[in-house]
Amino acid sequence: MSQKKILLTRRFPAIAAQMLSEAGFSVSTRQTDEPMMHDELLQKAASHNGLLCTLSDKINGDFIRQNAHLDVISQFAVGYDNIDIAEANSQGIPVGYTPDVLTDATADTAFGLMIATSRKMFYLHKSIIAGNWTYFKPNSNLGVELKSKTLGIFGLGRIGAEMAKRCKGAYNMKVIYHNRNRNIEAEKALGATYVSFEELLANSDVLSLHCALNEQTKGLFNQKVFEKMKPSAIFINTARGLIHNEADMIEALNNGKIWGAGLDVTNPEPMKPDNPLLRMENVCILPHIGSATVETRSEMAKLAAQNIIGLYNKQGMQHVVNPEVLK
Ligand code: GLV
Repeated sequence: MSQKKILLTRRFPAIAAQMLSEAGFSVSTRQTDEPMMHDELLQKAASHNGLLCTLSDKINGDFIRQNAHLDVISQFAVGYDNIDIAEANSQGIPVGYTPDVLTDATADTAFGLMIATSRKMFYLHKSIIAGNWTYFKPNSNLGVELKSKTLGIFGLGRIGAEMAKRCKGAYNMKVIYHNRNRNIEAEKALGATYVSFEELLANSDVLSLHCALNEQTKGLFNQKVFEKMKPSAIFINTARGLIHNEADMIEALNNGKIWGAGLDVTNPEPMKPDNPLLRMENVCILPHIGSATVETRSEMAKLAAQNIIGLYNKQGMQHVVNPEVLK
């Protein structure tokens, strides 16, 4: 095999480039964390055989058509809404991704945001910095308890199930969920109950999103939907920012249609520092760190590299979004 050239679109954990080099690939990688501009990415991809990319790289239809020579696109993420999969299918390009290894870290992020939001932790931390810790106030800084409350999961897959497990174990929360298809395995393991979307909205004390971003979920959590939730509800989004409508969520929080929100994903990303959500009492925001632990990022890098190596050495890609193109 002539030496194949792999482009890493940014600085990934070093193990990815190391594995690829050791497997005989020529690896081009960036030396900084700053992502490539789209034009640079387009131009560089033209002279490579494979791509190791991530969620903020815009691998859209035009990109794929202009780079139809690519043997493989390996995504360093579980979500792949930045990639036009239909076009990759048309061009016969397999797309790898990194599920499973980030399940626990992402569920921890959702669980942490739920607790932090229920006790206004981020806001109170900022209030100390602002010099507002004066004296003990029996009627101030009050959060809400989670014990025996109802957790609603929208999208009960791997990450949703881990979030549910944590909530059941820590707070004996009742788990309800809504999916396109029922998840019988999770129903058995977690005692989760399948409900309609309307029932999910009406009954969840905490509503946590764990679905993919697609045409059905884009903008789904809008004013009409927030209005159907409990005024005491906490909304958690660790999936994708585009699934909620930010202006509608701000309105719902300001007008008491929901109680609080914990977000690891925003729209757009990065969020601007003057965003009003950052100053709200019952809101906790993180900068899309769901999978950001040393262990998880290293496993993601290994899987993303292995998906490329496996394609060429005939072991096969371990995790591929569109296996039909490999037939
Ligand atoms: C992160 O958001 C991912 O999709 O892995």
